[in-house]
Amino acid sequence: MAGGFVSQTPGVRNYNYKLTPKVFVTCFIGAFGGLIFGYDLGISGGVTQMEPFLEEFFPDVHRKMKSAHQNEYCRFDSQLLTLFTSSLYLAALVSSLFASTITRVFGRKWSMFLGGFTFFIGSAFNGFAQNIAMLLIGRILLGFGVGFANQSVPVYLSEMAPPNLRGAFNNGFQVAIIFGIVVATIINYFTAQLKGNIGWRISLGLACVPAMMIMIGALILPDTPNSLIERGFTDKAKQMLQSIRGTNEVDEEFQDLIDASEESKQVKHPWKNILLPRYRPQLIITCFIPFFQQLTGINVITFYAPVLFQTLGFGSKASLLSAMVTGIIELLCTFVSVFTVDRFGRRVLFLQGGIQMLISQIAIGVMIGVKFGTVGTGDIGKTDANLIVALICIYVAGFAWSWGPLGWLVPSEISPLEIRSAAQATNVAVNMFFTFLVAQLFLTMLCHMKFGLFFFFAVFVFIMTIFIYLMLPETKNVPIEEMNRVWKAHWFWGRFIPDEAVGVSAAEMQQKSV
Ligand code: BGC
Repeated sequence: MAGGFVSQTPGVRNYNYKLTPKVFVTCFIGAFGGLIFGYDLGISGGVTQMEPFLEEFFPDVHRKMKSAHQNEYCRFDSQLLTLFTSSLYLAALVSSLFASTITRVFGRKWSMFLGGFTFFIGSAFNGFAQNIAMLLIGRILLGFGVGFANQSVPVYLSEMAPPNLRGAFNNGFQVAIIFGIVVATIINYFTAQLKGNIGWRISLGLACVPAMMIMIGALILPDTPNSLIERGFTDKAKQMLQSIRGTNEVDEEFQDLIDASEESKQVKHPWKNILLPRYRPQLIITCFIPFFQQLTGINVITFYAPVLFQTLGFGSKASLLSAMVTGIIELLCTFVSVFTVDRFGRRVLFLQGGIQMLISQIAIGVMIGVKFGTVGTGDIGKTDANLIVALICIYVAGFAWSWGPLGWLVPSEISPLEIRSAAQATNVAVNMFFTFLVAQLFLTMLCHMKFGLFFFFAVFVFIMTIFIYLMLPETKNVPIEEMNRVWKAHWFWGRFIPDEAVGVSAAEMQQKSV
């Protein structure tokens, strides 16, 4: 995967680095950060399906689930049960805001370490939970861990990677997320067959494994050259850059990092500065990308695939198995992005994936509508149920090479150093807020909007695809500290970037890009 693709934005330098073993190993370990998030995303849906777990903590839901005359759409509607799933995301939202300061002041790796540590403690609370309070405290600690990891890992990967392979490396985070989801689903499949409380305890307790992996990983990882310069370790930063790039010829990139750092020193308060007009493009994109990522409706599948499949009339075992299949498809399809994102660019993937998701969502809505109607009772044949599973897989594949990985990549690469940590925290906070909202509201929405829920998300997928087409400039192969030039050349955002930020006027940049 040696580099060779060049940026098309005028004035942007191209460093054609080769892939070095050091950067590969470093980013591989760094990407472990995605495992804790993924494990958690994947474990909750299955655990909330386990009868002993429901009997122990949510007896009302358990009774409702057993009732034969329930409306299919409303079988699992319980605010308390969804609070179990979604409380984590509120905690992650809060911690990502603190993580931004730690990431900036102490370096990216310490945020990762803290992430692993709190997640570890949370897994112990959950695995040994005796009451609902312990369960919720555990979830909140897990959430703190996720907030720290999601704030620091994407930035770490984007800064470490050579510019011409940044997309692929950053996508490692999403690969790890999905890997975590798949492993969790497989674990659930087996633990669900155990009698008594041991099953869910193993599922929740095993979260300590990815937690330890990120903790140990963070201890051995070096910090990024950008962060070392930001914290005054200039010589060390140069050595680090030379060693991860595998060459001593790094002067140009190093100078870019120094310039970026000088500029960032003028900025004392990243949180206040991010609101300045000159950062408006980055701020708006950083808020909209995670908002739209969640409004694709993906987590309806991630959290509730087993619930959804049971609603469709699958047995409990078959539901977990189908959830496993969708997870494996998502994992495989994420590699499509890994191998194409630096060649074809972010925009093509966003647009293609968006259209694919849109079509499949409409088809799923129509099929479920025809089968269950608005009353929510009825039976679905094997062929139709399999067709719905196939459509769900097509939808998941579309997400896997577009909004999934790019939802983390784009926000981590578009902001200048001086606001990068704050921008990434904003990205995580918005993402977590809408993850929370979808997790919290999905079962109620399913109960009330029925199959219309799929049309609801389809409308958003339509809007976000148009948004990308008009508002997102292509960032492939652009060195991270040269991103201002991309904004300056954009037909709309160009007006917000001051000339001195790139050394040319917007008119000149746009002329050059024609
Ligand atoms: C999203 C999650 C989602 C996961 C798996 C991530 O990029 O942020 O909300 O659950 O992908 O689909």
